[in-house]
Amino acid sequence: MSFLSSQNQLSEPQISEFFDGCPVPAFAIDSNHLITHWNKACEHILGVSAAQMVGTKNQWKPFYLYERPVLADLIVAGSLENVVGTYYHDDDKFRSSVVIPGAVEAEKFFPHLGHDGRWLYFSAAPLRAPSGEIVGAIEVLQDVTAQKSAELDLRRMHQDLELQVVKRTHELAAANEKMEEDLRRLTAAEAELVRRNAELTEVNRKLSMTQEQLMQSEKLASIGQLAAGVAHEINNPIGYIFSNFSTLEIYIDSLLKILTAYEKLDKDRGSTVLYQELNAVRKDVEIDYLKEDIPALMSESREGITRVRKIVQDLKDFSRTDTALEWQWANLHQGIDSTLNIVNNEIKYKADVIKNYGNLPDVECLPSQINQVVMNLVVNAAHAINGGRGTISITTKVVDADVQIEVEDTGAGIAPENLSRIFDPFFTTKPVGQGTGLGLSLSYGIMQKHQGSIQVNSIMGQGTTFTLRLPIRHDAPQS
Ligand SMILES: Nc1ncnc2c1ncn2[C@@H]1O[C@H](COP(=O)(O)OP(=O)(O)O)[C@@H](O)[C@H]1O
Ligand SMILES: [Mg+2]
Repeated sequence: MSFLSSQNQLSEPQISEFFDGCPVPAFAIDSNHLITHWNKACEHILGVSAAQMVGTKNQWKPFYLYERPVLADLIVAGSLENVVGTYYHDDDKFRSSVVIPGAVEAEKFFPHLGHDGRWLYFSAAPLRAPSGEIVGAIEVLQDVTAQKSAELDLRRMHQDLELQVVKRTHELAAANEKMEEDLRRLTAAEAELVRRNAELTEVNRKLSMTQEQLMQSEKLASIGQLAAGVAHEINNPIGYIFSNFSTLEIYIDSLLKILTAYEKLDKDRGSTVLYQELNAVRKDVEIDYLKEDIPALMSESREGITRVRKIVQDLKDFSRTDTALEWQWANLHQGIDSTLNIVNNEIKYKADVIKNYGNLPDVECLPSQINQVVMNLVVNAAHAINGGRGTISITTKVVDADVQIEVEDTGAGIAPENLSRIFDPFFTTKPVGQGTGLGLSLSYGIMQKHQGSIQVNSIMGQGTTFTLRLPIRHDAPQS
């Protein structure tokens, strides 16, 4: 049965000719799904001839490996909605035509067609009898491979682009993080630099302090030398004054003896003119008083000379000739006594000195420097005693392989906030001109040089104790 024939229309051969001439691949089936037309373009694109196809139901064969309905079959079967889901999926873009009522469209990829497979776009429309009954269907194909691959390329490019964006975003984030890290490092480095700079400044400050101290101890050393020189110079004249004085005492004693003898003689002679003259002179010079006063004067002078001798000896002891820093075995008690004598003036009006001397061996040290330390401590102690007489106790003892000297006062004490600073060079609480603030820092240095220590313990309002410790034997000789 020919579904295209009707009056006043094209005849069957004419339609076949037109069908064949159409450049769009197309085929048609009848209501029994038998192929009625298979045009040239169809032959060309699918590689099967009309002769092979027309009159068969093999319309599926050029497309699929197994028998199944094509779009035209579905239209002819007339149950589109029920079966479409079985044969066409989302990817196939199955849809109803917006132009022709009842027509449908879909697209699919066929890997076995052409070189690398083809994308075909199908569009099938029902063929109806004048009564409206479906008597067949026509299906046209369109090779949309190029379009599709362009589309794929586009999608791929789009995906690539998105990937690139993601990648770049990651890179950017990483770069950003690195930059932040760099910044952090830079900040840290900067902080470190500032810290180093502060350290350097501190070292520099300490260096100049040390230099000050060095100059100060040099000064002290030269004062020591000067004192030693003066002491030496005075020592000689005092020596002979002292020895002459003893002789002089003997001489005066003899003279007084002679005088007494003369007096006796005169009394025996009676009252001659000569005796009266002599008596007048005696009275004039108050000989009886002189005879009483001379021994007193002599003893006082002897005491004075003895004291001068002692002071000179102390000066010599104090400034021992160890200015070249020679380590010597020294009796510390002797050194402390000399020092106390020298600073006696500073303390005698303010405090009583109590000595609790233990049994000390000689100590290997730089004696004049230890004297310096003791002097600093004793003078500081005296300065701290204000308002009323106080006590300065000096206690010595042996502790293990060290000797310990404690200088304890009943002075004002040291404020807790100052305790950590008193050994700093130039730290002083005394008025300008009275304190240099160098005493304790020098003492600290000296004790260190002796591999010993200096420690302080103080209670405000009660007093302060400085404790020196130094090894009896100096182990590592220094230059
Ligand atoms: N025995 C003490 N009692 C109270 N304060 C003391 C005593 N010894 C030291 N100090 C405090 O330590 C400071 C530093 O002492 P020092 O280094 O000898 O310098 P200076 O005596 O020239 O002030 C003193 O100014 C004082 O405030
Ligand atoms: Mg001082």
